[in-house]
Amino acid sequence: MKKSKSPSESLNIQTELIMPGHTNPLGNLMGGNLLSWMDVASGISALKHSGHISVTASVDNVSFKMPIKVGDVVIIKSFVSRAFNTSMEVVCEVFIQNMDTGTETLSHQAFLTFVALDKLGNRVTVPEIVPVTDAEKHLFDGALRRRELRLVLAGKMKPVDAISLKGIFS
Ligand SMILES: CC(C)(COP(=O)(O)OP(=O)(O)OC[C@H]1O[C@@H](n2cnc3c(N)ncnc32)[C@H](O)[C@@H]1OP(=O)(O)O)[C@@H](O)C(=O)NCCC(=O)NCCS
Repeated sequence: MKKSKSPSESLNIQTELIMPGHTNPLGNLMGGNLLSWMDVASGISALKHSGHISVTASVDNVSFKMPIKVGDVVIIKSFVSRAFNTSMEVVCEVFIQNMDTGTETLSHQAFLTFVALDKLGNRVTVPEIVPVTDAEKHLFDGALRRRELRLVLAGKMKPVDAISLKGIFS
């Protein structure tokens, strides 16, 4: 296993066609179905990066700003933006594809955190992420603040220890 990897090595892209069984009576995709696809897609990115089955530790805020309608084609793209010790932040973006023009509209985005486990369920150290593009570097830098915020909110870190977060306010 390599000691460091780029975000693109964990890129996972999957496509879903929204069927009537996925929607509410108005023909809008149910949020839980989208979350389930995002969770699986992101878990595959974490598996690609770590080489291990990875469990969802947290899902950051997801806003359902735009309805996805029956008959729409959605593309779910995910990759690891930063790895810590045994955990990884995965960026998951959902696009609605216009089948006439081929254009993709970003409809949802979320950050998910996965923890890599071995076959016995013990946590394992994961390779570092080395960002390459400016966008990847931007996500990599912000990941430290997002990690502190989610750990503080989960009661796993004292606010006083959230060094990167303090930097925003001071
Ligand atoms: C996620 C899990 C492995 C963390 O184990 P834990 O013993 O609570 O671990 P720790 O507090 O020592 O943290 C271990 C790692 O998880 C991270 N972590 C723990 N809770 C987290 C949270 N709420 N959000 C983000 N990361 C979290 C820690 O930052 C740490 O990462 P690091 O090794 O990179 O520093 C454990 O809580 C678990 O198995 N949860 C259930 C996972 C699952 O079944 N998911 C599917 C839901 S149905």
